[in-house]
Amino acid sequence: MKALVLAGGLGSRLRPFSHSMPKQLIPIANKPVLAHVMENLRDLGVTEIGVIVGDRGGEIARALGDGSSMGVRLTYIQQDSPRGLAHCTSIARDFLGDDDFVMYLGDNMLSSGLHTIADDFRAFRPAAQVVVHKVADPRAFGVAEVDENGRVSRLVEKPQHPRSDLAVIGVYFFTAAIHDAVATIGPSARGELEITDAIQALVDSGADVRARVHSGFWKDTGKVEDVLDCNREFLDALAPAVEGEVDGASELIGAVRVEAGARVVRSRIEGPAIIGAGTLVEDSRIGPHTSIGRDCVLRAAGVDYSILLDGASVQRVGGVSGSVIGRDATVSSAVFAHCNRLVVGDHASVEVAA
Ligand code: DAU
Repeated sequence: MKALVLAGGLGSRLRPFSHSMPKQLIPIANKPVLAHVMENLRDLGVTEIGVIVGDRGGEIARALGDGSSMGVRLTYIQQDSPRGLAHCTSIARDFLGDDDFVMYLGDNMLSSGLHTIADDFRAFRPAAQVVVHKVADPRAFGVAEVDENGRVSRLVEKPQHPRSDLAVIGVYFFTAAIHDAVATIGPSARGELEITDAIQALVDSGADVRARVHSGFWKDTGKVEDVLDCNREFLDALAPAVEGEVDGASELIGAVRVEAGARVVRSRIEGPAIIGAGTLVEDSRIGPHTSIGRDCVLRAAGVDYSILLDGASVQRVGGVSGSVIGRDATVSSAVFAHCNRLVVGDHASVEVAA
């Protein structure tokens, strides 16, 4: 089985970050979402992976390379503009050939637990197998109606009045039958070739389309709150490790990872938390549920439930919570000041008044 990972699109809901980076590279527990995706696929035994990229493809290729460091082999496939998930399968046709494949949306984060779902697909080989997750409000997703035997009778993209609580999550298993179905559909009201329409075409033709429930953690990292939620979930599984320096006046509580070259001075870090390589934390209180990227500077800072991307700095500012601070962005105050939630784009500078 091959895989097709979708990492094009605009990611406009993740502004301001999507202005300066592909949303699929946002770090969760200091690792890009796409790296988590590739590792999940490798753990399913899938190593031949096509990656759909758009305008920001260069940045994605620089981050992931040929995939060898993650034990997979990546082939990049350029999409001229985001014409829909089904458009992605058609431009990947040469790469996919007639092989079965798993299509994985590059902004979806899942805990492990896909193994039995993948094994069922390999054993029964229905024309298509979607993965669903019960949600309270499925209106932002594809919604599946499924009978008691797990057969899909209807799929609707982002319905106003959902007829089930089963959201289609971003992992789909397909045989080559999907390509013929894609050829029969036209653009939806939002102008995209929807994979839900192609799967519905399979259902309408009488093909075997099944749904399996994933009950573990799942998030579409479309919005800042979702990114923070994911980060908390993945940090909860963090293995503590101290590879950097922690001075005698500092205290580490719970699962804390201090990466190589990081320095913690006169500070209190409450896990789960990661202090990225080359970062300085001085006279600060960090965590819990906080990821600090590489080469950041935190001086007299108080940060919890937040993500700092590489090169960010927080100086003389406390109370930073539920925040995402972009690459090389600075948050500072002339004298110590408190603030609360901050969403700061890459390279931005925020001065907090005392
Ligand atoms: O997250 C699950 C949902 O993903 C499903 O419930 C929906 O049925 C499915 O349509 C999809 O909805 P979204 O509106 O969230 O899809 P989004 O536009 O965010 O695209 C998902 C990923 O695919 C994202 O990594 C960007 C990439 N993509 C998207 C489009 C439209 C492409 O690579 N090319 C594209 O043309």
